[in-house]
Amino acid sequence: MTQSTAPNATDAVDPTAHDSGNKATDKFKSDRVTADTSKERAAAIYKDLLAAIAKVAHDHQVTYDEYRVLKQWMIDVGEYGEWPLWLDVFVEHEIEEIHYNRLDYSGTKGSIEGPYYVENSPELPAVCEMPMRDKDREATSLIFKGQVTDLDGKGLGGARVELWHADEEGFYSQFAPGIPEWNLRGTIVTDEEGRYEITTLQPAPYQIPADGPTGWFIESHGGHPWRPAHLHLRVTHPGHRPITTQLYFQGGDWVDTDVATAVKPELILDPKPDAEGNNVVEYGFALDVSKED
Ligand code: DHB
Ligand code: FE
Repeated sequence: MTQSTAPNATDAVDPTAHDSGNKATDKFKSDRVTADTSKERAAAIYKDLLAAIAKVAHDHQVTYDEYRVLKQWMIDVGEYGEWPLWLDVFVEHEIEEIHYNRLDYSGTKGSIEGPYYVENSPELPAVCEMPMRDKDREATSLIFKGQVTDLDGKGLGGARVELWHADEEGFYSQFAPGIPEWNLRGTIVTDEEGRYEITTLQPAPYQIPADGPTGWFIESHGGHPWRPAHLHLRVTHPGHRPITTQLYFQGGDWVDTDVATAVKPELILDPKPDAEGNNVVEYGFALDVSKED
C-alpha cells in the first residue's frame, strides 16, 4: 500500500486508515478485557457462529478464490489495526441493542461507543466551552444545554457528562494527527439541579478512513463510508445506569443511511440559530436507577 501522507504546509496531515486504525487498536489493547462466559455458553455461541458461516458459504457457493480473498483481507485488517473500526461500524450496533433491551431500561436511548472514546477527559464546570483551537472557532458554534434527571424528572446534581466529537473536518483528537490531545473532549459536571450549558462547535460528518481494508470492504460491494455528524456522550451518576449514546442533527447528510446503523429517532437534535448565528439546542438525559448488569 502506498499512502499519501506527506505533511502539507500547515501542521495537519490527512489521517490514514493505518494511523487511526493502529491508534484505535493500541487504545483498545491497553485495557485487556474479559467476560465471564461459561464453557457451555461459549460452546453454544461458537457452534452457531460456525453454522452461520457454513450457511453463507453454501448458500452463495463461495469459491476457493473468494475464500482466499477473505483470508487475505482478514490478515490485512489486523495488520492495519482496523478491527476496532470495522467491528464498531458493522457489529457494535447489534450488541448495543441487545444490551439496551436486556435489562428493560426506559431512560434515554443508548447508541454505539465507537472506537474513539478516551476516559479521564478534562473536567469542566456546568457552564463551559469545550477545549478547542482557534481554527475550530471558525466553525458554527453549537450551544448544547439541558439537564440530567432521574426517570421522575428530578435533577441529578454532580452527574458527569463526558462529551467527545469530531472537528469540522470530521477528525478526532488522539486518533488523527496534529490535533491537541484533549481537543473537543471534556467531562462536564452538572450543577446542583443537574443542568449544563456547553459551547462547542457543529461537528462534520465522519468518513471511515477509506484507504485501508475497511474502505476496500465497503468499496467491494458498493457501500458508502459515511456516518452522519454526531456528538458522543457518556452520562454517569452514582446509583444510576451509565448511558453511552450519540446525538445527531435533523436533516444532516447520512442521517438516514449511517454506515454504522447507529441512528435512533429519539437521538436527533434540531438546533435553531440564535441572534448571533450560533446553533442552540436543548436536550436532556434521563437515567434509570442501576440494576444488575
Ligand atoms: C467509527 C467512528 C466513529 O466516530 C463512530 O462514532 C463509530 C465508528 C469507526 O470508524 O469505526
Ligand atoms: Fe464517532
